[in-house]
Amino acid sequence: MMETVASWMKESTSTVVLTGAGMSTESGIPDFRSKSGWWKSIDPRTVASVESLTDDYALFREFYQLRIEALHDIEPHVGHRILARWEQQGYVQLIATQNVDQLHQLAGSKNVAELHGNIVTIRCTSCNKPHSKEHFLNNAVCTYCTNHLRPNVVLFGETLPQDAWNRALNAIQHADVVLVIGTSLEVYPVNQLPMMARGKLVYINLELETHATGFDAVLQGSAGEILTQLDAYL
Ligand code: APR
Repeated sequence: MMETVASWMKESTSTVVLTGAGMSTESGIPDFRSKSGWWKSIDPRTVASVESLTDDYALFREFYQLRIEALHDIEPHVGHRILARWEQQGYVQLIATQNVDQLHQLAGSKNVAELHGNIVTIRCTSCNKPHSKEHFLNNAVCTYCTNHLRPNVVLFGETLPQDAWNRALNAIQHADVVLVIGTSLEVYPVNQLPMMARGKLVYINLELETHATGFDAVLQGSAGEILTQLDAYL
């Protein structure tokens, strides 16, 4: 099946990659719903929902400060680097990611749509003015209106960035091949994207998730390993 997927990619005039938290676990970042995932120890509604900004801002800020600081010594892994090289070689046209760690960009991918924003850029919750990560990590308030600061991450209950969504939807609807890597496909509306694909749909994941139906190929294993094996056929 690996060789078949590689042949689809070689014949493809447009291949899009959709990634989730499973793409970053080999870099040392926990995912959300695996047994060691974030949501196994924290209720997302208390720290990752739009309500958490007002219900308990201190807890919200502490959660994101922890995640931002955890990124300081994190590197992209071989899988990220392969995807970046495939973009240079013309095998990949766009990466649409649910991840907020910017590891795809750090690995060299240029065409990345951040469907859930990111946690490395900060804005004021009230006047939206940009602030530095350091400001947020030092518990500072907005320098313009003294309100709370927050990362540019999409919280549960918020709409996705229109531009990123449109780029991902348009690319997936026109792609010959869509590689879906490291996502449980639990979260709406990103979990609707694979079914919008008209081309070959490939699922690359550690576990076979119940939501992962209707794929033309399923390659079970770790992202780094599967991408390395696929790369050998290109
Ligand atoms: N290689 C491949 N797959 C992996 C790996 C790996 N190294 N590690 C974990 N996985 C798989 C898990 O088996 C799981 O199916 O990645 C998937 C991760 O699923 P989730 O933890 O649900 O993460 P994700 O699908 O990205 O969550 C979507 O939910 O909480 C929100 O905003 C958050 O963007 C996130 C969204």
